[in-house]
Amino acid sequence: RDLAAAPAPLPLADVDLADNDRFTDGQLPWRMFDTLRREDPVHWQPEPAPHHGFWAVTRHADIVRVDRDPETFTSTRFTNLEEVDDDQIAVRRSLLETDGLRHQALRRLLQRQFTPRAVAAYGDFLRGLTARTLDAALAKGSFDFVAEVAADFPINVLARMLDVPEGDTRQLIDWGNRIIGNTDPDYADVLLESAESERYRNLPFRSPAALEVFAYGRELAAKRRGGSGVDLVSMLVNQTPRDGIALSREDFDNYFLLLVVAGNETTRHAISHTMLALMNHPEEMAKLQADPSLIPNAVEEFLRWASPVYHFRRTATRDVALGGKRIKEGDKVVLWFASGNRDEAVFEDPYRFDVTRRHNDHLTFGKGSPHFCLGSSLARLEMRIMFEELLPRLAGIRLTGPVRRVRSNFVNGIKELPVEVVPA
Ligand code: HEM
Repeated sequence: RDLAAAPAPLPLADVDLADNDRFTDGQLPWRMFDTLRREDPVHWQPEPAPHHGFWAVTRHADIVRVDRDPETFTSTRFTNLEEVDDDQIAVRRSLLETDGLRHQALRRLLQRQFTPRAVAAYGDFLRGLTARTLDAALAKGSFDFVAEVAADFPINVLARMLDVPEGDTRQLIDWGNRIIGNTDPDYADVLLESAESERYRNLPFRSPAALEVFAYGRELAAKRRGGSGVDLVSMLVNQTPRDGIALSREDFDNYFLLLVVAGNETTRHAISHTMLALMNHPEEMAKLQADPSLIPNAVEEFLRWASPVYHFRRTATRDVALGGKRIKEGDKVVLWFASGNRDEAVFEDPYRFDVTRRHNDHLTFGKGSPHFCLGSSLARLEMRIMFEELLPRLAGIRLTGPVRRVRSNFVNGIKELPVEVVPA
């Protein structure tokens, strides 16, 4: 089962947020977060060499404080738990790893494509795609929900926004798995912890698959440059730079890669976790089936519950006090959004999956940061349409085997969710 109640407490000495193995367990991460929020909310987490350790920020209020203060807590270092030489940073910096005016200029290139209004234009396409995906999967009776439903859906949406052929979506999924799954032996070309990964230290997520994504993106860019397309690639390569900030080839590479991985894995796992939660809480599923108008509000609870991104990273630009600790300039500071999403100071009964929950101030997309998820409106729409289409099609659904999780303390991912359905 997934979490139906607050997990059992864990001694502080047993907490290790740097150990990816612990994140293949459905409960252990939450137990670690609970212990930290209670006993040591800004916790120094050592890491094996060559890493230097990081501050784990686990309470909602502290996370928001850091997220709102990009001057003290910069993103211009790496957002995942790897170390890269300063002189290599420039070649692999996407907007996620940029601050200030440069970040604004990069973000502005695609901001208008991701407003609630802009993404609403994809509503009919999304509904058609969801219906096709679900009809094909449900006809099978027993299937892996991740492979048949959750994995294809977000990437097909991105394929449309990037205007890449539908036939390439499998390839995009494979790249996403290999890049984000850099700590999972099922996916990684080279495990992040291995000595061999040193060879790829200047690539995003130290993944050689990044080179394939770069090559693919460049080919698209070359075809679209100078054209009149309105897809995301055309928007990136054909806009006049603003504020004197031009988009270099490396900027494009990293932007393209970010779009491929950011909007793919995250939404996939949000959908899978929601399906699991609904199976574990049939009374909540019944409420939504009886009254689909509850779904838009429920999506916020889906997102809080799923917390597909465990953390993002910042670096302190000066000495600063946080939660009674002295953080030093240059220290790595990690915001555990997932932990904030179970903070009892903010959420009443945080381990209750409650589709009618109000005042759902979750941190799933960040909070108050200039890096707040660019794709949040799209992700919300995808989630809403997925469950508006799925729930009326189901007379019953049950889990038929073990839930397999991605080995990663970065992405809270589900690899396999075997189900059996009775179509309505
Ligand atoms: C940034 C989560 C879906 C594109 C972020 C951040 C989070 C996040 C937590 C903030 C990173 C930080 O603070 O450093 C999620 C979750 C999603 C999701 C949980 C699904 C449920 C999407 C989608 C897209 C997308 C569908 C579309 C392509 C981005 C981009 C950024 C970002 C481009 C970087 C923004 C910036 O640095 O200014 N996302 N995301 N995300 N997300 Fe999402």
